[in-house]
Amino acid sequence: MKIQSLDNPADNSLSRVDGTAKVTGAATYSAEYAVPGLVHAVLVTSTIAKGSITAIDSREAEAVPGVLAVISHINAITVPGWPERKQPAERAPVGTTFRVFYDPLIYFDGQPVAMVVAGTREQAMQAAALVRVAYQQEAHQTHFEKNTGKAGIPTNVQRAQSSPFQDYERGDTRAWEQAEVRIDAGYTIPTQHHQPLEPHAIIAVWETDERLTVYDKNQGVKSAQGQLAQAFKLPRENVQVVAKYIGGAFGSGIRVWPHTMAAVMAAKQLKRPVKLVLGREQMFTSVGYRPYTRQKLSIGASKDGRLHAMVHEGIGQTSMYEEHLERTVLATRALYACPNVSTRYRLLPLDVNTPTWMRGPGDATGMFALESAMDELAFALKMDPLELRLKNYAESDPERNLPWSAKALRECYELGAAKFRWENRQMEPASVRRNGMLVGYGMASSLYGFHRHPSKARAVMHADGSVTVESATMDIGPGTGTAMTRIAAKVLGVNAGKVHFELGHSRLPDAPGQNGSSTIPSVGSAVHVACEALKSKLIGLARQMPEAKKPEGQVAVKDGRVFGMSAGDEGISFTDILKYHHLNELEATEESKPGTERDRYSMYSFGCHFVEVEVNPLTGEVRVTRVVTCADVGTIINYKTARSQSVGGVAGGIGMALMEHSVMDHRFGRYVTSDLAGYHIPVHADVPPIEVYYIDKPDPHVNPIGSKGLGEIAIVGVAGAIANAVFNATGKRIRELPITPDKLI
Ligand code: MOS
Repeated sequence: MKIQSLDNPADNSLSRVDGTAKVTGAATYSAEYAVPGLVHAVLVTSTIAKGSITAIDSREAEAVPGVLAVISHINAITVPGWPERKQPAERAPVGTTFRVFYDPLIYFDGQPVAMVVAGTREQAMQAAALVRVAYQQEAHQTHFEKNTGKAGIPTNVQRAQSSPFQDYERGDTRAWEQAEVRIDAGYTIPTQHHQPLEPHAIIAVWETDERLTVYDKNQGVKSAQGQLAQAFKLPRENVQVVAKYIGGAFGSGIRVWPHTMAAVMAAKQLKRPVKLVLGREQMFTSVGYRPYTRQKLSIGASKDGRLHAMVHEGIGQTSMYEEHLERTVLATRALYACPNVSTRYRLLPLDVNTPTWMRGPGDATGMFALESAMDELAFALKMDPLELRLKNYAESDPERNLPWSAKALRECYELGAAKFRWENRQMEPASVRRNGMLVGYGMASSLYGFHRHPSKARAVMHADGSVTVESATMDIGPGTGTAMTRIAAKVLGVNAGKVHFELGHSRLPDAPGQNGSSTIPSVGSAVHVACEALKSKLIGLARQMPEAKKPEGQVAVKDGRVFGMSAGDEGISFTDILKYHHLNELEATEESKPGTERDRYSMYSFGCHFVEVEVNPLTGEVRVTRVVTCADVGTIINYKTARSQSVGGVAGGIGMALMEHSVMDHRFGRYVTSDLAGYHIPVHADVPPIEVYYIDKPDPHVNPIGSKGLGEIAIVGVAGAIANAVFNATGKRIRELPITPDKLI
């Protein structure tokens, strides 16, 4: 069976190197490791949102055959890295990571209160249902709209000398009052959950009292290693974290969550390997979510469409014990040329679990508001929305007063508009019908910050000419191994089929977790420099060989050979180089990290989306019928996997705009959409053909490979573009997501 072609190293469309392993089931995910002596854990979760546990009766549960233990705050081991438990228990101050089985206090509905460990998962599930927990309940507050008055400046922003989340003002936004045309509108996005196909899962194995291995679904093996080593006061190298395959994460795996700690604690207590797999319902309260956020945007412009003032305020939800901060209002400072801009960001603590980063965190939220408001302004001005954006195009970063490292947003607009045939858009809403459906066009800009972290990679050439490259980076779905294979193959001049890329193990060279669209910019650079170093070593060794007649000539590598040295220039093969020098392998390890370029340039990925929708005038059903998405993210490493990222981002944006909504019953502080029947995400039938275009020009200032992040800019702006298309189709401006039929009829 040959599914993928890896034959052409110059081919910019490498298929996934692990595609066959994934579709044939050969890929091993966290819950699938065959560990001898494994036992199974199931969580018991709180049925109140605030209060404390007064008693746990586990007698019936313990009587279930196969049950080994019922663990709770009453009998859980002490975690050495945590502070001593207080008697009586005190509510954790803001900024405290939630500690599982630590004390009897309840902070949110769905909080783990006990865990049953048994010989089989079925035994553990049955017993978990029999654990009786008694509570002293206190009044909870989970309703965002009823509590907005309690929103405040985050405490760590108050304490910080300087923070991007501080209030911001440039110019004087009182200019808004005098503007000829003014927009003043509020926008709301509800809580949304990541919903990866693979639920979070862990197998925790203590080889000795001092040595731990976890197979854990997460987005950063090195950071999980660090957090677990700290909690158990162990040297880092005593903790190993493995996460080679991830079935989607979207931000839900950036932290070590309480369920991970619970499994590790149980394994230590029972001296047995413990497996814990979250149920879908538990995914709603265990691994974060995109926080409910309310925003207000005031934009003032002159009649010719020049922006005079923008005021952007955002309030995001957080938990009572932790502050989760997002870039909600930040894009407004940088995206458009506007002299007077102010932003304010507040947090509203509620009796819920802590939110986390999800698919373009902050920016996807903020740009829904900004790009909707820009569309409202364009309509008030009777101006084409694209023309309005071009009129206020920022030639340099208006926030930092610095040049962009590179910005081809104008090219994105032009390319996207041409491919979409934007010129066919009608200014008058609800004026186009097709087969009885209302048809509308919408567009939005997209911007996402550039994130690059120090990263290491090791490249090894083996005696047979094959190459292994390794780094402790991750693949949560974008195809990291494929992109890195492509970089290595290109630098070393070998067939991509000769390259094997290893990731997802904390033993590998240090690399950041996969988040903030930082993998290609960071790890891609490390792989590039490591392979360059290996290439130099190969060339150096080739020069010492008798065939190397022209030791000072121009050399190049191609097809596994060094050219430009030998007399007839038939090339010296890599295998001959290693053989001549009696080497089994040749290796190079390099680190790549940012320098001072950020002091001189502002660095962002840019993009735009054009969307066509059809709205059923009778039922209010919205179908996205056509999407053109364009991005300027510097050099595209591998077109095929990049395109998948863009398609996935648009699909996520369709979910955000039209479907995703975690509904809470505030009487209980509990989500009622706690499965995939209640929480809707797009299926294939909801996703139309998506045309993807890249400018594909290297950014000369960001890193050695000229590439910026793509994963998240793919979703940023999509919800705004869809809302704008819905307005164009119907004349109805929906400022609260998701745009469900009830809001349109
Ligand atoms: Mo992304 S939300 O940084 O995984």
